[in-house]
Amino acid sequence: MIFWRVKSLDAILATAKKKSLHRSLGAWQLTLLGVGAIIGTGIFVLTAEAAQKAGPGMMLSFVIASLVCIVAALCYSELSSMVPVSGSAYTYSYAVLGEFVAWLVGWALMLEYSVAASAVAVGWSGYFVGLLDNSLGIKIPFALANGPFAGGIINLPAIFICIFVVGLLVVGTRESAAFNAVLVAIKIAALTLFIVLTLPVANIDNFQPFLPLGEAGVIAAASSIFFAYVGFDAVSTAAEETKDPHRNVPIGLIASLGICTFFYLLISAGAIGSIGAQPLLDSTGKNLIPGSLALAEQCQSLAAIGQQPLVCSREALALVLREIGWEKFGNLLGLTAFLALPSVVLMMLYGQTRIFFVMSRDGLLPEILSRIHARFKTPHIVTYVTGVGVTIAAAFFPVGKLADISNSGTLFAFMIVALSVMILRIKDKHRARPFRTPAIWLIGPLAVVGCITLFLFLPNDAKLVFPIWSGIGLIFYFLYGYRKSHVARGIDTPSGGEDMIAPIRPLADSAQDIPPSKDRN
Ligand code: ALA
Repeated sequence: MIFWRVKSLDAILATAKKKSLHRSLGAWQLTLLGVGAIIGTGIFVLTAEAAQKAGPGMMLSFVIASLVCIVAALCYSELSSMVPVSGSAYTYSYAVLGEFVAWLVGWALMLEYSVAASAVAVGWSGYFVGLLDNSLGIKIPFALANGPFAGGIINLPAIFICIFVVGLLVVGTRESAAFNAVLVAIKIAALTLFIVLTLPVANIDNFQPFLPLGEAGVIAAASSIFFAYVGFDAVSTAAEETKDPHRNVPIGLIASLGICTFFYLLISAGAIGSIGAQPLLDSTGKNLIPGSLALAEQCQSLAAIGQQPLVCSREALALVLREIGWEKFGNLLGLTAFLALPSVVLMMLYGQTRIFFVMSRDGLLPEILSRIHARFKTPHIVTYVTGVGVTIAAAFFPVGKLADISNSGTLFAFMIVALSVMILRIKDKHRARPFRTPAIWLIGPLAVVGCITLFLFLPNDAKLVFPIWSGIGLIFYFLYGYRKSHVARGIDTPSGGEDMIAPIRPLADSAQDIPPSKDRN
């Protein structure tokens, strides 16, 4: 019953075929693409949250989150190579599981992309504030650089960066492949510098106790730090532009996730070893919840006596370098985050607007959202709508809460993708699969179980947001999308619609990626 209104895979593929992009990407370019999309707020900021949840055991959390991402990525690649069109998991599930599940996935992807954009904006704000203070001596008042959950009033720098990125998207800015390569090089150089400076001064005693909050703490930290790996779908969605996708897509995915895992492990080891990473506990010995007012208050009291443990920092990696005497390099690392994080906000917001756009073209969201700006040829209305939501969330919520909420949506979408791959292997055995997930009956169930486990270990509020958000989505679906759906009404989605929108990744050339449309206003 829930598998109604399946979109024809053949119809989707027929439209996709018309586009037939030049297959130019090799394993190396794909890896670069993945690393560029993955490294962001997760490692630069959420290391502090992971330490508060797991202590030094966060090293294991990085490995667990990476393994879940690798199996999910392998499933993702099979579908994206079969259904190489825009819309990501939403489009795949429309073709496999039907409109109802596709709607839920599209709705969940809003959490993934929009809330992730807010999270990265808040992460950027922390580095911006620290950089101004430490390099120029300009202090932005705490209350104006933190939302109410972190003991402030509003996060003005986060609002600023959101508005800036929305402006860039409206005028049609896309990140070029060359710019992405430069940013990747800068990020890798900064992270390498961090490792080189911290590991030699690591003290083995700082790793004890290794699991102050037990195994549960390690998995809870993995659920949050999962955010640090999100973005690898950029590689999967590039499958159709890839030479020899059977070989290069899995190499690109596994190499980019592998490189990030390698860096993340060394970075966490460097941070733990050099300044310690034990969680802060309350008076009863329970650990304080990251993003809570109680933790913010304890951090403020410690700051008042000149102490800043890793778990309190909003610019964790820069703090570590400053604490071990490399003030200037700390600022340099802050500068790297300042320069590189906006591009992650841009990619996330871009992804969101394109998913909204595709859903609107399918009739599931109001048509007005897919209107194209007459001059810039961008879906400006959907960009503004998304921008308002993202900015409000960034203004008031702490980075960790936002990342956890984003993870809840992402984990759901990944789980559905893994299920879709398995269902399609049964339902449509003989269809060509440019990339086949190896050992699907092992990898697929592992991806499903991994996603469910990480979801269950998210904090309660993030777990609660997801069903509430889905409930709102269902009301909206039955009031609007169910009746207006193009598939239900037998309307073909305009050709040159979803298939022509560039996927979520840097472009080789700058893009007017949406074709002129009769919807133009
Ligand atoms: N993986 C991306 C980040 O950490 C979303 O910012």
